[in-house]
Amino acid sequence: MALLFEPLTLRGTTIRNRVWLPPMCQYSAVDGVPNDWHLVHLGARAVGGFGLVIAEATSVVPEGRITPQDAGLWNDEQAQAWARIVDVVHARGALVGVQLQHAGRKASTFRPFHEGNGSVPAEQGGWTTVAPSAVSFPGLATPVALSDDEVAAIPHAFAAAARRALDAGFDTVELHAAHGYLLHQFLSPLSNVRTDRWGGSPENRARLLVETTDAVRAVWPDDKPLLVRLSATDWTEGGLTVDDVAAVAAVLRGHGVDLVDVSTGGNLPVPVPAAPGYQVPAARRVREVSGLPVSAVGLITSGAQAEAILAEGSADAVLVGRAALFDPSWPLRAAHELGVATPALAFVGADARVRPGESTGWPVQYERGSWN
Ligand SMILES: Cc1cc2nc3c(=O)[nH]c(=O)nc-3n(C[C@H](O)[C@H](O)[C@H](O)COP(=O)(O)O)c2cc1C
Repeated sequence: MALLFEPLTLRGTTIRNRVWLPPMCQYSAVDGVPNDWHLVHLGARAVGGFGLVIAEATSVVPEGRITPQDAGLWNDEQAQAWARIVDVVHARGALVGVQLQHAGRKASTFRPFHEGNGSVPAEQGGWTTVAPSAVSFPGLATPVALSDDEVAAIPHAFAAAARRALDAGFDTVELHAAHGYLLHQFLSPLSNVRTDRWGGSPENRARLLVETTDAVRAVWPDDKPLLVRLSATDWTEGGLTVDDVAAVAAVLRGHGVDLVDVSTGGNLPVPVPAAPGYQVPAARRVREVSGLPVSAVGLITSGAQAEAILAEGSADAVLVGRAALFDPSWPLRAAHELGVATPALAFVGADARVRPGESTGWPVQYERGSWN
């Protein structure tokens, strides 16, 4: 048995294996409502053996969208559309999470579909962005600094979206505090130059993330895990370092966070030394300092590489993103390469369910492709 295919239990929730799909924006929603594209994207990866699929960065308020085509969870129509997708993933025995986010100064941009660059003007459906400080991300419009009351309202928006995520049937929510979006903008001294209770000291800069965590934890059931994605470094002199971020993770442990999804960068357009497994050392450090389980992500592309990351104790789960766009059945392929048995799973019809936590296996419909 490979460690990759051992179940992982967080609180009262058992995930059937440790190879998960990271959140990946599809920029294909209309008015924040996900559709058949999202259903196929996530459903195919559940069929392909992922233990947990995490739905893309999903905005808690309309002005928090990275692009006008981002998914949302600020109204019930969106929650109902997500519920259909959640049911499809569950029917294949995978669990499903949603990444909750507010893009702050990186909102209202063109999607990367060759339609334009930079900030979307108002006449094309864009809006004025908000941020901790009126400091722009290079190449984007200058945001308006949030007032004290407006910052204090952000955790409530995240909590309301989490309540809708619960109604939709999601098994976990992940707070997006990475990649230069609003919660990361508050954490980093490069984007947060406030002098009030939300800026200055590391404690003040972490206040919004901690209050958001508390607000979401208060509405998120005790038996369901809460994940946070952090950028462990800004890759910039004067920005956040791995030790700064590991210290934040240690604080979050005391506020009901169950796993840190360790990524890096995104707060400034600086070069990132991307190479196979380049973020794994940061994941290991966050795990050591915080005592929390972590997931590793970033150019993890083979089963043997993923297995080694778990075996050396660097992480408790791995996320496979782009390689899974190429191969939706990446986990089943990795299981084959690692010699792990993948039994055919019983036929799953509209009325039947694979129990959450049931082992990874080939859909009986695809068994002839399983090399078994
Ligand atoms: C198309 C695409 C969309 C992405 N959208 C998100 C997102 O919504 N939230 C997020 O935290 N990261 C996002 N990412 C980053 C991935 O989650 C992942 O961290 C990154 O691709 C590195 O992993 P990989 O090398 O396995 O792809 C996105 C990446 C891609 C390729």
